[in-house]
Amino acid sequence: PLPPAFRTPLPLPRVLAPDATSGGADRYTITQREASAEILPGVRTPLWTYEGTFPGPTIESRRGRPVVVTHRNELPVPTVVHLHGGRTPADSDGYPTDLVLPARHPHTGHGGHGMHDPRAVISRGTRRYTFPLDQRPTLLWYHDHRMDFTAPAIWYGLAGLHIVRDDAEEALGLPAGARELPLMIADRAFDAGGNLAYPALDPTLSERPGVREPYLAGVLGDVILVNGAPWPVHEVDAARYRLRVLNASNARHYELEAVGDDGRRLPLVQVGADQGLLAAPVTHRSLPIAPAERYDVVVDFADVPVGGRVRLRNRLGSGRTRDVMAFRVARRAADGSRVPRVLAADLPEWRRSDAVRVRDFSFRAGRMRGGHGWLIGGLPFDPARTDVTARLGDVEVWRLVADVHHPVHLHLVGFRVLSRGGRPPLPHDAGLKDTVSLRPGESAEIITRFDGHRGRYLFHCHNAEHEDMGMMANLEIV
Ligand code: C2O
Ligand code: CU
Repeated sequence: PLPPAFRTPLPLPRVLAPDATSGGADRYTITQREASAEILPGVRTPLWTYEGTFPGPTIESRRGRPVVVTHRNELPVPTVVHLHGGRTPADSDGYPTDLVLPARHPHTGHGGHGMHDPRAVISRGTRRYTFPLDQRPTLLWYHDHRMDFTAPAIWYGLAGLHIVRDDAEEALGLPAGARELPLMIADRAFDAGGNLAYPALDPTLSERPGVREPYLAGVLGDVILVNGAPWPVHEVDAARYRLRVLNASNARHYELEAVGDDGRRLPLVQVGADQGLLAAPVTHRSLPIAPAERYDVVVDFADVPVGGRVRLRNRLGSGRTRDVMAFRVARRAADGSRVPRVLAADLPEWRRSDAVRVRDFSFRAGRMRGGHGWLIGGLPFDPARTDVTARLGDVEVWRLVADVHHPVHLHLVGFRVLSRGGRPPLPHDAGLKDTVSLRPGESAEIITRFDGHRGRYLFHCHNAEHEDMGMMANLEIV
């Protein structure tokens, strides 16, 4: 039986303490291991975890201060760690064939086609990832990225948050401390025994890549988790809160709205996008959020009566997937926070005329490996092929077109949305993005500068089942 909504307190993932902060970097160790948690009342759910919890522990960093994370893989399968949204050197970016083999378990295969990639760097048991974090403050997340198996790995629990901060952002006076809440939203399905049910993988072919055909569109769950708890509730002051929202679902899209007991919607004041603060706040009545997108949103509970409740709802859901979580206003309280009219004055404003190249990519269903899959520009992912060679420092415009819903993500860089369906971008396209949600049949143009690092990167659909079934391509920066 599914738990009642709005009874479980919202968990806040613990912030990981560094092992050392000497030598100009913060050093951490994360052990990937099997664990279990009481997600549904009265049953333990086995999970794959970072440090024993889902979500994994949160890492808090300062802009420009490098972080070194040693990951130890005590899971029974190979893993790959990717810091989503990080400006990371290629050798720490978690290329899908750069496997970390299990430290303890006898290894039985290489997971998909990884072994055919001559450039793959395989680690045994542990791997050290270095993140310079020389980038705008924002909410990043780390998750598994193994070729052909990213979707089940994330589903079983391999996801955590990484927040980058700086002095300029802190000086803005946005809600902070207990009034800043990270919200990792993810749907999951459970079987009668409380196990996570991932139906797309054929258990008898655990080393065979992929997603069984009935699940090609993506795997959805009927339980909505926030920070690992089903439809939780959080007690708040009648004051402004900063919600750092991530959609960590494999395939589910949400359109979030905050609804009071009287049915009225509270404004969602967006202050940041995937890659950091907006130039100026944008107010939404509801906010669509695709897999991997992040929205930094301020909600003011000041006018909600004490004892009142505000539900975070999903306009795209039905039945129980219509609800996400609730806030219960517990008390009146002073509020010294503010939302300044100018948030960031230094956002890149690339113009079309800056671009040295325009490229076209289609995101469509097609044939691969003798069955059905998802293709970019007519081709399924192949680590041995370079799909795009871009020059470090170049500005490019990419025109993307989709058959069905595809949230398109670029590694390494942030981009601006230039147009959608030939029209100006939508209000929620504001700011610097790393994932753009293409709607069915839609085209969009994005513009970016390829800066930061040279090397082999990726772009792909972040519907995790689409990604595992071919919808990924190589981006070589030279
Ligand atoms: Cu969130 Cu290529 O990843
Ligand atoms: Cu897709």
